[in-house]
Amino acid sequence: MSKKHNFIDYGERGRYNPGNKLNDLTGKEWIKFTKSWFIHRPKKRKENEVLHPAKFPESLVAEFISFFTKENAWVLDPFAGTGSTLIAAGELNRNAIGIELQEKYNSIALNRIQSGNFNTKILSIKGSALKLKQVLEENGFNDLKFDYVITSPPYWNQLERNNIRQKNRKEKGLDTVYSLEEEDLGNIKDYDKFLEWQAEIFDEVYDVTKNKGYLTIITNNIYYKSKLYPLAFDTATSLTERGNRSWILKDEKIWLQDDKPLIALGVNNAWVGNRHHQYCLIFRKEENE
Ligand SMILES: C[S@@+](CC[C@H](N)C(=O)[O-])C[C@H]1O[C@@H](n2cnc3c(N)ncnc32)[C@H](O)[C@@H]1O
Repeated sequence: MSKKHNFIDYGERGRYNPGNKLNDLTGKEWIKFTKSWFIHRPKKRKENEVLHPAKFPESLVAEFISFFTKENAWVLDPFAGTGSTLIAAGELNRNAIGIELQEKYNSIALNRIQSGNFNTKILSIKGSALKLKQVLEENGFNDLKFDYVITSPPYWNQLERNNIRQKNRKEKGLDTVYSLEEEDLGNIKDYDKFLEWQAEIFDEVYDVTKNKGYLTIITNNIYYKSKLYPLAFDTATSLTERGNRSWILKDEKIWLQDDKPLIALGVNNAWVGNRHHQYCLIFRKEENE
């Protein structure tokens, strides 16, 4: 027997079905988000926001949070950086916890949270995602299960590479690597070791996520020493082969960055691409109840 719902008319936004299990979106908004690619042109960053070398825009993460949660849900970002996920979650009346290894980025996040004046609980914790459950427990979150996790881990050794962007940042006195710490995933030299440590972190994320909850990882394939390392694809595969903590890969959404200038790479010599897209990998925890 099918259950009938009285739709709520939100005018331009479309009609909302009160039986919607996942989010607070109308059918029209839901369908719009399911396109497999998007172009996102965020506002130019403020002076104090460019120190961090690889932030993602709050407006981008807000679209994912709006799709994968309802108001008052709990969101986790285990590589929180300067807190973009946390700010987006607060602005959408969701609760959120971020974990960030570096004191300097964590303190930027804390300042941003303080000026945000949110109605929900928004926390940035300095700690290592390699000890995710321990960090949560030490901060009093023993039993908390998250509705949604969205994050962007370091793209392996991408920041170490001495490319043109890094040279320009160095000249401006901006950070070109996150840190020199061993626990910083951006400092792992060996590609396979990186994949294993990253997968171990997402094992712990699995344990603290609600059943049927989603995980989005923003990452990319990496061109290094004249060859492409399929980091995004290997990330997708590695998380789905973790025994009883295997994530189910649901999809990818491709972020097309058509606002980045083309750089003369390999001209008159050999193929080197201008990589102007990133992968948003969508996983779900699905256990039999
Ligand atoms: C791609 S950035 C994330 C940026 C963030 N989305 C933002 O918008 O600011 C990756 C972050 O992971 C942090 N990180 C690296 N290893 C970590 C670890 N073991 N635990 C927690 N954070 C770590 C880095 O310091 C860096 O800030």
